[in-house]
Amino acid sequence: MNDDYVRIFDTTLRDGEQSPGATMTSAEKLEVARALASLGVDIIEAGFPAASPDDLEAVRRIAIEVGNADYNGKTPVICGLARASVNDIDKAWEAVRHAAKPRIHVFLATSEIHMKYKLRMTREEVVQRVREMVAYARQLCPDVEFSPEDAGRSDPEFLYYVLGEAIQAGATTLNIPDTVGYTTPEEFGALIAGIIRNTPGIENCIVSVHCHNDLGLATANTLAGLRAGARQAEVTINGIGERAGNTALEEVVMALYTRRQFYNLRTGIDTTQIYRVSKLVSNYTGIPVQPNKAIVGANAFAHEAGIHQDGMLKHSMTYEIIRPETVGVPQTRLVLGKHSGRHALRARLASLGYQLSDEELDQIFARFKHLADRKKVITDADLEALVSDELYQP
Ligand code: KIV
Ligand code: ZN
Repeated sequence: MNDDYVRIFDTTLRDGEQSPGATMTSAEKLEVARALASLGVDIIEAGFPAASPDDLEAVRRIAIEVGNADYNGKTPVICGLARASVNDIDKAWEAVRHAAKPRIHVFLATSEIHMKYKLRMTREEVVQRVREMVAYARQLCPDVEFSPEDAGRSDPEFLYYVLGEAIQAGATTLNIPDTVGYTTPEEFGALIAGIIRNTPGIENCIVSVHCHNDLGLATANTLAGLRAGARQAEVTINGIGERAGNTALEEVVMALYTRRQFYNLRTGIDTTQIYRVSKLVSNYTGIPVQPNKAIVGANAFAHEAGIHQDGMLKHSMTYEIIRPETVGVPQTRLVLGKHSGRHALRARLASLGYQLSDEELDQIFARFKHLADRKKVITDADLEALVSDELYQP
């Protein structure tokens, strides 16, 4: 893999499943894992095996079935999350060890607030636990990821030290979480740059970013982290996750793709499957996608304003920066409503088989505008009714 390759680590089945009400059955998780593998994600975080026997079993099944299959020439790494404890690491290993490429992901908090109030541990105790647990995971599994939880609010000097110790103990990927979505893109980018500059041994590891969306900055922070040198992005489909969610896979992938001349980075994602996988995850989790959601929302490729529709009819690039087919959306929708103009109305009527003279169009357009004042969206059936009322009345 070249230096411009960004690994996509999908945590829909772990952090995403932590969204309130998002629980999926084992069979649904397996189906989502298959869809993620076919989408081309590099690493699937399949769950948190110590959380419950069901979780362990779901991760084990994914490791066996998805972690040994070929998806367009690629088999994803299957990862299980573990707190920094022997019990959690054993459970994670029990679940992922069946995969051709297993990974154990160990985490422990490093911010003052988490160490003092949640862990009730001193800095020295945290460092000692990281050393011991990363080393323990590493003697089970050749691929170990370590995350200093709440890194976004941790003392950077302390982070460099903890991360250096994790590397010495055998960590191969260092993931930097902005656990509570607190940082700004400038801060997060600088944090990643500082870690890469100051952590001993980091040149032999992959640096990863994991952002939450509490301030709506998860995608911007992730992209800032990648610009600063991270080469793994942790994401979820539709951005589902704890509280305001995680970074959305579709946003990062499409930003890197659409602005490739700016970022000079690439992923292994088959973008044409994005919309299908988004729908699958929304159906299984019961979490609807907001209509104006970037890339996968129902309105992401819909245009209502007359000026926009007119532009779109002349050239699609006037108001669309991505072709809908690129993400698997069948086509652009020109929604007819009160903001629409004559040009869009004529085009829609033509697609329904009505070739109208200018005079006929004027008559229909006037009635269409009256109807649109009362009704939010004008359907094809409404148009048919308007035309037959206006033009075919005896
Ligand atoms: O947000 C977070 O800190 C996490 C870690 C477990 C990586 O999800
Ligand atoms: Zn998280």
